[in-house]
Parts: sequence; structure tokens; C-alpha cells
Amino acid sequence: MSVFRDDILKGKTALVTGGGGDICGEIAETYSAHGANVVITSRSQERLDTAVADMRERTGGNFLAVAGDVRSEEEVEAVVAKTVEEFGGIDILLNGAAGNFPAPIAALSAKGFKTVMEIDVQGTFNMTKACFPHLQSAAEKNGDASVTNISATLHYTGTPYQAHVCSAKAAIDAFTKCTAAEWGILGIRSNAVAPGPIGDTEGMRRLAPTKMSVEEMTSIIPLRRFGTKKEIADSCLFLASEGSLYTTGAILVVDGGAWLQSMKMGDF
Ligand code: NAP
Ligand code: COA
Repeated sequence: MSVFRDDILKGKTALVTGGGGDICGEIAETYSAHGANVVITSRSQERLDTAVADMRERTGGNFLAVAGDVRSEEEVEAVVAKTVEEFGGIDILLNGAAGNFPAPIAALSAKGFKTVMEIDVQGTFNMTKACFPHLQSAAEKNGDASVTNISATLHYTGTPYQAHVCSAKAAIDAFTKCTAAEWGILGIRSNAVAPGPIGDTEGMRRLAPTKMSVEEMTSIIPLRRFGTKKEIADSCLFLASEGSLYTTGAILVVDGGAWLQSMKMGDF
């Protein structure tokens, strides 16, 4: 059950990078469940095909799966071309493809740093730029088009073993705001969702310290639990919908208050 009307994205087409993955798969499915045609893209066609088959069964919506590496301008352009060929345009872009692994700065290779920067930052730029003419047409036709980037909160305070990811997500936040500032006049909105720790995801499997129990980890989160994929997807749905027509350049933090804890001065 959704708290949103089930036709709020009716007639729109959404392109979701990382859409075969955990969080972005949920976002793609949520867009579909609310009426959008959905294209998902990431590197593995097999993974995308499986995800689309599952999502189509659950929502009955229109899907397309197109493999591509967001680091490659040519592959990104091909994904965008296939999207437009299938559905006639692009109204909503969700940039969620990302890479992560924990590594201390002193042991992180130049290639490791570059790889994450290229997937997250260059990939977001490549896809946003390639979608621009289609977002512009959609905004001219319907009065609104939107980009939503998936960020994080790790860089608000600095996080050990995450210098590459923090640098990338900080750049994504900056890019989100620049896009909003430049394209607002065209009717294209640009926002980001910054998830905190989200349960049952690849990101958490890679990052959660194995020596701590879930109870220990969640005890420092104000809302005392991990977030769910649905909570991230609902925020992305809001930002792609007419419910947020005057919202652009925003970074919507969806983390149960987790990042605030690093500013805690002590217990009272
Ligand atoms: P995930 O399932 O691993 O999703 C990452 C996706 O990116 C996968 O579908 C992956 O597919 C795709 N991808 C990776 N490299 C790519 C490339 N070069 N080109 C195209 N696609 C590529 O991880 P997740 O935990 O759901 O994370 C999703 C997003 O949420 C990420 O932006 C992440 O930074 C953010 N986030 C997650 C958490 C969390 O708690 N999980 C917290 C904060 C932020 P392929 O490998 O098949 O290409
Ligand atoms: N620790 C330290 N450095 C690492 C590493 C690790 N666990 N994993 C990769 N690297 C560095 C290495 O320098 C590596 O190059 P090298 O093996 O020649 O030294 C470099 O990153 C590139 O790794 P590679 O595996 O060749 O890159 P890739 O493009 O195939 O994969 C990753 C990108 C590394 C980010 C991979 O983990 C991935 O595909 N991730 C997608 C899913 C994901 O990260 N989900 C979580 C999102 S929050």
C-alpha cells in the first residue's frame, strides 16, 4: 500500500541508473506502481532482465532494461536513445548508480579513488547531460521534468574509510544544486535524496561493521532503526511528482536523524 495516489506519474517516463540494485530497484518499482514507464540501466544485462521480470509481475507496468556503464559517454547515449525510442521521451531521471568499498586513505590506490569518482560523479554528469534535451522537451510539454540524484550523509562529518565515497557524494550534492540553478528557468528541477543506513542493501552489507549487532548500531540513531528501501523510494517519488513542484536544489536527508548524532555533545 502506498500513501501516494497510484496515478501520480501516469504518462511519464523515468530512467533509473542502478535500477537493478537494491535501493534503486525499489525506486524503479515505486515509479512504475504510480504509473510511470520505467527504464533501468546498469552494467549487467542479466541482472537487469531478472529485475524487470520481477517488477513487471508485481506492478504490471511498462519496463525496459538496457545495459550500460555510466562512466562511458557512448554507452550512456545509447541507453538514452533506446529509452526515447521505446517510450518517446524522458520526464524523470534518477541517478543512483554508485560504487563503494571500505578502504583507508593510506591504502586506497589512485585507481580505487578514481573508480568511485568516475561511477558516482562522472556517471551522474554523463547521464544528466545526455538526458538534457529530453528533459527540456518534457518540461516544455508538461511544465515539469526532474532529476533526482542519490547522495549520502557520510560526507557531512567525514567518515573513516570512505574518503572516496564522501568526495563523490559531496560532488553530487554540488552538481545537484548547480543543475537546479541552471535549469530551473527551463522547468527542470534537480534534487537529491541522502539516505542514511538502509537495511537489506548492498551498501550496508559492504559497510556495516560485522562486530557490532544491529541493536548496537541502531542505538545511536534517533529513530532507533535502519531505514527501509521503501522509505527512500517514497522520497524519490515525492521529488518526481507534482507534490514537489516548487522544490529544486534540495538535498532531502532520509536517515532517521543518524547524521545528527555525530554532533552530539553528550548525554543529559
Ligand atoms: P547496489 O544495490 O549495489 O546498487 C548500486 C547499483 O549501481 C547497482 O545496480 C550496480 O549494478 C550499479 N552500478 C555500479 N557501477 C555502475 C556503473 N559503472 N555503471 C552503471 N551502473 C553501475 O547498492 P545500494 O546499497 O542499493 O545503493 C544504491 C544507492 O544508494 C547508491 O547511490 C548508494 O551510494 C546510495 N546509498 C546507499 C546507502 C545504503 O545504506 N545502502 C546509504 C547511503 C547511500 P551493476 O553492478 O550491475 O552495474
Ligand atoms: N579495497 C580497496 N580498493 C579496492 C577495493 C577494495 N575492496 N575494491 C576495488 N578497489 C580498487 C582497486 O584499486 C581496483 O583496481 P585494481 O584491482 O586494479 O587495484 C579499483 O578499485 C577498481 O576496481 P575494479 O573491480 O576493477 O572496478 P570495477 O569498475 O569493476 O568495480 C567497484 C567498481 C570496485 C566499485 C565494485 O565494487 C562495484 O562494481 N561496485 C558496484 C556495487 C556497489 O559498490 N554497491 C554499493 C553501492 S553503496
